[in-house]
Amino acid sequence: MYRLIYKSKSKTAITWDMVRDIMHSSNVHNDEAEVSGILLASNTHYLQLLEGPYDKVNKTFMRIACDQRHCEIQLISFSIIDTRIFEAWGMLGIGVFDLNKNLEEELKQKYGEQDGELYFPLEEWKSLAMINDINLMSKMPEWKR
Ligand SMILES: Cc1cc2nc3c(=O)[nH]c(=O)nc-3n(C[C@H](O)[C@H](O)[C@H](O)COP(=O)(O)O)c2cc1C
Repeated sequence: MYRLIYKSKSKTAITWDMVRDIMHSSNVHNDEAEVSGILLASNTHYLQLLEGPYDKVNKTFMRIACDQRHCEIQLISFSIIDTRIFEAWGMLGIGVFDLNKNLEEELKQKYGEQDGELYFPLEEWKSLAMINDINLMSKMPEWKR
């Protein structure tokens, strides 16, 4: 089993509709390919984690890398893993812009910002830490978010 993480820049400002569209096609393909993961979106960038069999993760990433909706794709890691972090979902999509301002501020203090946006890190360990933080935040009851 392998885990791949990359960061990319959207060619246009990211909206929830765009994330939803991506999740829609992802859920169809990724279920078939036994690929699971998470897609984080700020207003400008994506950070995605894909996990599954080597050839399936590789093929999915190659298809994503050719997508004209984003550019400046930076591979963060491609490593062997024992177990998945994201078992249940084909692809879980989270817009950082949907978190409340306090949580977004907390993330910016921890991971930094760029042009007023939460900065998505390029180190594997930091990316995993951020993915874990945001995944937990998105599961908080609505009054806390
Ligand atoms: C940031 C980003 C992440 C994406 N993630 C996935 C993904 O995990 N799985 C997938 O099949 N397609 C993903 N896509 C979409 C693919 O690039 C491609 O458009 C899609 O797989 C084509 O499927 P379709 O022909 O059924 O529409 C992503 C696109 C973008 C821009």
